[in-house]
Amino acid sequence: MIGDKKVILSGIQPSGDSITLGNYLGALNNWVKLQSEYRCLYMLADMHTLTVRQEPSQLRARTLSLLAQYIAAGLNPQENILFIQSHVPAHAELTWILNCYTQMGELGRMTQFKDKSKRHADNINAGLYDYPVLMAADILLYQADMVPVGTDQKQHVELARDIAQRFNGVHGDVFTIPEPYIAPPSAGSKIKSLQDPTAKMSKSDPNPNGCIFMLDPPEVVIKKIKRAVTDSEAEVAYREGKDGVNNLLTIYAAVTGKSVEDAVSEFAGKGYGDFKAAVGEAVAECLRPFQLNYRTLMNSKDYLESVYKDGAEQAGRIAERTLNKVKKKVGFVPR
Ligand code: TYM
Repeated sequence: MIGDKKVILSGIQPSGDSITLGNYLGALNNWVKLQSEYRCLYMLADMHTLTVRQEPSQLRARTLSLLAQYIAAGLNPQENILFIQSHVPAHAELTWILNCYTQMGELGRMTQFKDKSKRHADNINAGLYDYPVLMAADILLYQADMVPVGTDQKQHVELARDIAQRFNGVHGDVFTIPEPYIAPPSAGSKIKSLQDPTAKMSKSDPNPNGCIFMLDPPEVVIKKIKRAVTDSEAEVAYREGKDGVNNLLTIYAAVTGKSVEDAVSEFAGKGYGDFKAAVGEAVAECLRPFQLNYRTLMNSKDYLESVYKDGAEQAGRIAERTLNKVKKKVGFVPR
């Protein structure tokens, strides 16, 4: 708790030119809904991106751009603590300590590690393996009660719980045990690729038509949705075996705020052509204000700088408090 509010922490990696519709519907859009009820810290997870090679000037630009995207989506910097992970050294320090409370076997079981090591077989670095411990440090430093993420991050949040419980078991109550907060799949916690609706929508999709980026121009969005893989049944229904149509219905419902059931009845008797055109329009409509806000913010670099500086100060204070407690517990001599 901070004051009388429960604490939320989450983050996105600044690893693409813009976030994807999956990041938006699975994470950012939910964060906006939670911001007044909870004390929220939203991080730009730049340290995590180094697990895959980055071009330095691009990483710098993308980090600033991601901050603008957070605010453009509706996160209020006055109400939330928005900060850059690498600005708070406590993340790296706590990671080291937690490494010594994490088993190799636990990290080897992480499905994202297995997937990413296949995709980056020439660079299976220790950071890629250790990444979930850094994520546990991110969460535990702020004594977060809840961690709003998409389905693909659930396993990492569960590991953070296990590490926290283990540490508390040895040293007493130091960490709050965090809960993952995941919307149901029909509400967008697992948006699929438009080209392979059995896989998640991801910026690293080998087919560029599989992924919608939040800064894609409207005509591109409409075209990508028009080309989305569906099935040969020509019936707009939400049921097993219709992954492509289910995904488009989920996207439509999430961006319009309608239920999937209402969306299904809206398209009853309509063909896939009309359906896809309506979904494309609805997504483009949702992106319009986001992109407008984004452009305005990117013209106010001083403002963005003031937001992340202030965020680092506030986050740093909270993180230091936890880190000092941890250092004392493990037996480090205070400075
Ligand atoms: P990242 O950057 O891969 O994704 C950011 C958020 O977007 C969600 N997401 C999706 N949700 C629905 N459908 C999709 N297709 C989809 N793709 C991505 C992710 O679940 C995530 O919530 N390790 C994290 C970042 C992180 C973090 C943290 C999160 C670092 N420290 C501490 C929470 C707490 C990551 O790589 O997310």
